[in-house]
Amino acid sequence: MPRGSGLVVATEPGAAPGHHRFEQKHALGQGGMAVVQLVRDNALGRDVAVKSVRDGGADANKLNLFLREARITARLEHPNIIPVHDVGVSTDGRAEVVMRVVDGRTLADVIRGLRERDAATVAEYTLDRRLEVFVAILRALQYAHERGVLHRDIKPDNIMIGRYGEVFIVDWGVALADGEEDIAPAGAVIGSPLYMSPEQARGEPLDPRSDLYSAAVVLHEMLKLRHYLGDQFQSAMPDLVMNQIATQGWRWPVLDWGRSSGEPMPPMELFHFLNKALSRNRDKRFLSASDMIYEITRMLDGRTRVQCHITLVKALVRRSGRMIDRMPILSFALFAVICILVVRGAMDVLRTWTG
Ligand SMILES: Nc1ncnc2c1ncn2[C@@H]1O[C@H](COP(=O)(O)OP(=O)(O)O)[C@@H](O)[C@H]1O
Ligand SMILES: [Mg+2]
Repeated sequence: MPRGSGLVVATEPGAAPGHHRFEQKHALGQGGMAVVQLVRDNALGRDVAVKSVRDGGADANKLNLFLREARITARLEHPNIIPVHDVGVSTDGRAEVVMRVVDGRTLADVIRGLRERDAATVAEYTLDRRLEVFVAILRALQYAHERGVLHRDIKPDNIMIGRYGEVFIVDWGVALADGEEDIAPAGAVIGSPLYMSPEQARGEPLDPRSDLYSAAVVLHEMLKLRHYLGDQFQSAMPDLVMNQIATQGWRWPVLDWGRSSGEPMPPMELFHFLNKALSRNRDKRFLSASDMIYEITRMLDGRTRVQCHITLVKALVRRSGRMIDRMPILSFALFAVICILVVRGAMDVLRTWTG
């Protein structure tokens, strides 16, 4: 934030002349359009993150986009959505959004760390922790969707994780919100090609299921550490990527995990979950973020839904486990009888062989 920003100086009580409330420290990150700086707020004695346009400057259109982003983000007060403190226009006419600073890293960074097998990242991001992050993303989406806001750009770069485990969705710059004009005419394609839903890639009208598709792409990447379409699409032309997503669909063959990732195989339920969440036809996907949260929670609780022969075995084993708790003496007696029968059977077999 440039010194003497209009937002600030006038509001600081008792400030000495020449004293500036905000002091720019260093860049925190940048995206397609914006740069985010770490800034010291001398009045409140804290650091904040200030997002402003990356290049160009006082352009009325960009100013409106930033104000719009700030308004949409400000109406979303949720523990997993980045809080906006303020918005203003600097003396050189650039819009600035002042937010809570996340002392941490983006999910893109975490995935990179996992892929490079960085020891600290691997130790921290167990399967359960990754699912926790995913559920936090879903909680934020559930809240936003229920308030008429679609994010439209869910991807690892727009998810931040703080040092204490906080998860935030950032960058509501291309969101679609009730009561706010869209940033582009109907039919225009908006978002990041690699994370778009098929309907988004086709420029169709969107609903919450589109963000949920993108969230599922992110979950896949968190688990497999590779983009779901494969590496060849990472540097492909956007049109090619969008055409692939819009027309080809995707299915993860059960058990096709690919040991090469070096990652442990996730539970079978997650394969079924992702196949449903990444259906090309949105009618076949989960209806809402809360449906997805329910399914993941069920899985974490070990309440396996029978969906194939493997989940059938898991469900039976779990049920037997519960039976042992309910009828411990009977279960132990049954177990002892089975053991005796097995041993006697084995001895019979040995006797016929040797004798
Ligand atoms: N509140 C924040 N605290 C710390 N870093 C942030 C914050 N918001 C964004 N960033 C960093 O800045 C990058 C760009 O911000 P983003 O809002 O995504 O801009 P763009 O709209 O240009 O994509 C993010 O990917 C992240 O690395
Ligand atoms: Mg971004």
